[in-house]
Amino acid sequence: MKIQRNLTSAIVILLFQWVIGIYSFGKFGEIALDQSQMSINSKTDYNYVIKKISVPVDHFSFSLNDTFEMRYLMNDSYAQGINPPIFFYTGNEGAIELFAKNTGFIWDNAPQFGALIIFAEHRYYGESLPYGNESYTNMKNLGYLTSQQALADYVDLIEYLKLHPKMKNSPVIAFGGSYGGMLSAWFRMKYPHIVQGAIAASAPILQFTDITDCHAFSRIVTTDFKMAHSKCPELIRKSWNAINNLTLHDADKKWLSSLWKLCKPLNNTSDVKQFKDWLSNVYINLAMVDYPYESNFLAPLPPYPIYEFCKYLSNDTKSDKELLLALNRAVHVYANYTGQTTCIETEDAAPDLGTSGWNYQACTEMVMPMCNDGINDMFEPQEWNFSEYASECQKLYNVRPNPNIICQTYGCSDLSTATNIIFSNGLLDPWSSGGVLQNLSSSAIAVIIPEGAHHLDLRGANRADPFSVIQARNFYRYTITKWIKQFSQLKRRVIANNTSARNLFV
Ligand SMILES: *[C@@H]1O[C@H](CO)[C@@H](O)[C@H](O)[C@H]1NC(C)=O
Ligand SMILES: *[C@@H]1O[C@H](CO)[C@@H](O)[C@H](O)[C@H]1NC(C)=O
Ligand SMILES: *[C@@H]1O[C@H](CO)[C@@H](O)[C@H](O)[C@H]1NC(C)=O
Ligand SMILES: *[C@@H]1O[C@H](CO)[C@@H](O)[C@H](O)[C@H]1NC(C)=O
Ligand SMILES: *[C@@H]1O[C@H](CO)[C@@H](O)[C@H](O)[C@H]1NC(C)=O
Ligand SMILES: *[C@@H]1O[C@H](CO)[C@@H](O)[C@H](O)[C@H]1NC(C)=O
Ligand SMILES: *[C@@H]1O[C@H](CO)[C@@H](O)[C@H](O)[C@H]1NC(C)=O
Ligand SMILES: *[C@@H]1O[C@H](CO)[C@@H](O)[C@H](O)[C@H]1NC(C)=O
Ligand SMILES: *[C@@H]1O[C@H](CO)[C@@H](O)[C@H](O)[C@H]1NC(C)=O
Ligand SMILES: *[C@@H]1O[C@H](CO)[C@@H](O)[C@H](O)[C@H]1NC(C)=O
Ligand SMILES: *[C@@H]1O[C@H](CO)[C@@H](O)[C@H](O)[C@H]1NC(C)=O
Ligand SMILES: *[C@@H]1O[C@H](CO)[C@@H](O)[C@H](O)[C@H]1NC(C)=O
Repeated sequence: MKIQRNLTSAIVILLFQWVIGIYSFGKFGEIALDQSQMSINSKTDYNYVIKKISVPVDHFSFSLNDTFEMRYLMNDSYAQGINPPIFFYTGNEGAIELFAKNTGFIWDNAPQFGALIIFAEHRYYGESLPYGNESYTNMKNLGYLTSQQALADYVDLIEYLKLHPKMKNSPVIAFGGSYGGMLSAWFRMKYPHIVQGAIAASAPILQFTDITDCHAFSRIVTTDFKMAHSKCPELIRKSWNAINNLTLHDADKKWLSSLWKLCKPLNNTSDVKQFKDWLSNVYINLAMVDYPYESNFLAPLPPYPIYEFCKYLSNDTKSDKELLLALNRAVHVYANYTGQTTCIETEDAAPDLGTSGWNYQACTEMVMPMCNDGINDMFEPQEWNFSEYASECQKLYNVRPNPNIICQTYGCSDLSTATNIIFSNGLLDPWSSGGVLQNLSSSAIAVIIPEGAHHLDLRGANRADPFSVIQARNFYRYTITKWIKQFSQLKRRVIANNTSARNLFV
């Protein structure tokens, strides 16, 4: 199904993650492949075996017996001896290989911990399709796409792995970034008997209705640009009107289309809207991937790409045309870093199943309000309008989003019962708006990485890593060691208590 084609705007985005496009009508996000080459050795290809496990389509009723094959990736080369730790990546919205490739932290550290590496694929993504190619064709088949069902799949997988006599008492550490980070945090909260601790990177578990101000996200994007050059967000803010001015008349539309070498010339207002949505998403993407080293996501990018971008937007411009000329040069940092781009494509990359899946999740559980005022941020003003959002979801999937279900299910305003979780957020990352930035309890800890963009910390080590991310990773190692030790003490006590109980009765 090409559902998101129907959405007027290009909500591009995101890298190994997702984002909710904040400018489009539907406010849905999309996934794109991340082929970054980030580790010190430019290593991207990790080795693993691809496995499958049969799990129920519906974990929560007794009225459906259907099962499906969930995929997972496994590397047992480092798992030594008895009860090795299991490093378990809670897969998010995309094919699982993508996350294996982009979570160098697990690969870098598994040898030291002698850990078994598992990357579990989220249902309805990649090849873990409950009803094969019909998984998306109707609500009856699609309705089992929920975060709760996905977590229950992960429980089944862990219980299955622990059937192995050498892993009966293995501690499990969950890892995840972005939506995957939300899942790893919720995994520990909901299943503390299954998961000993969780590293939840850039997990916006608070980006929900009445919890986080809908303006926060776009303000962080704006701040990133402002830090690069104070004029930069000002000129971007001004550019919206310049675009509006220069798309009133056909001659101007032609001028703009040919200056920018747009693949599809601007013709009508919906083309212009798509163009502006695309620009907004370029800015958001830049903020998410504002990494300190060269990287390659939707597009190849230089180190600290926002800084490069804003070099072209540092002087006042006299006319609308002059401004759009400068903006075009700036956007080339994102759209033409290699010099190989022949024309600028403002439409979405071809939608894939992953995209449909996330749009559906955004239309059910994952309602994350986003808005702009155009004053404290550099975007065109756009209010958050839930009824508009809901009616678009009704049209697309015949579902009504539930804006409260996440906070009801997992908690938002009081998470003080959470234990053994690290919530990490980079302050360059707009998603830190909905992240946990304060300690929740003595063992549910917030780690702030001032120079970090979207889960930089989960990536493989790189020479250009800022000190704050090196420090954060050291803290994770220290904490994981502590959790593993706690776990073996706990197990010892449980076994000791059981034995003494038996002695009483036998
Ligand atoms: C596990 O990963 C290491 C490093 O990438 C590799 O050398 C090894 O062959 C992998 N093991 C398996 C079973 O894939
Ligand atoms: C589920 O399976 C059980 C036995 O395996 C069967 O009795 C039952 O009718 C099945 N339920 C459904 C809804 O198919
Ligand atoms: C799914 O695949 C089967 C077998 O290849 C085919 O008959 C069917 O039409 C496909 N369904 C959809 C919705 O593509
Ligand atoms: C757009 O056109 C209006 C009316 O002609 C003008 O006042 C304004 O300066 C133009 N440019 C921008 C960026 O608003
Ligand atoms: C818009 O499209 C129509 C029909 O395809 C065409 O006649 C017209 O010239 C186009 N206008 C511009 C500005 O490209
Ligand atoms: C706008 O023009 C594009 C072609 O440039 C066309 O595909 C689209 O249907 C048009 N939309 C409206 C609302 O006219
Ligand atoms: C901005 O102005 C300065 C001083 O006039 C000039 O050296 C620089 O090249 C200009 N930058 C851009 C991007 O036009
Ligand atoms: C991309 O850069 C190359 C080299 O500078 C240039 O020839 C090409 O026209 C640019 N592409 C676009 C779409 O502007
Ligand atoms: C929200 O959108 C609906 C149309 O779907 C409209 O009737 C309503 O006035 C809007 N609300 C606000 C506050 O703009
Ligand atoms: C959060 O917990 C960590 C680890 O225990 C501690 O170092 C830090 O000071 C705490 N932060 C706050 C604001 O209490
Ligand atoms: C084991 O039993 C002791 C003494 O009854 C009790 O204090 C402790 O909490 C028990 N530990 C566990 C893990 O059940
Ligand atoms: C308690 O002891 C019995 C008998 O040895 C054993 O079967 C069971 O697995 C033990 N339970 C736990 C929680 O260790």
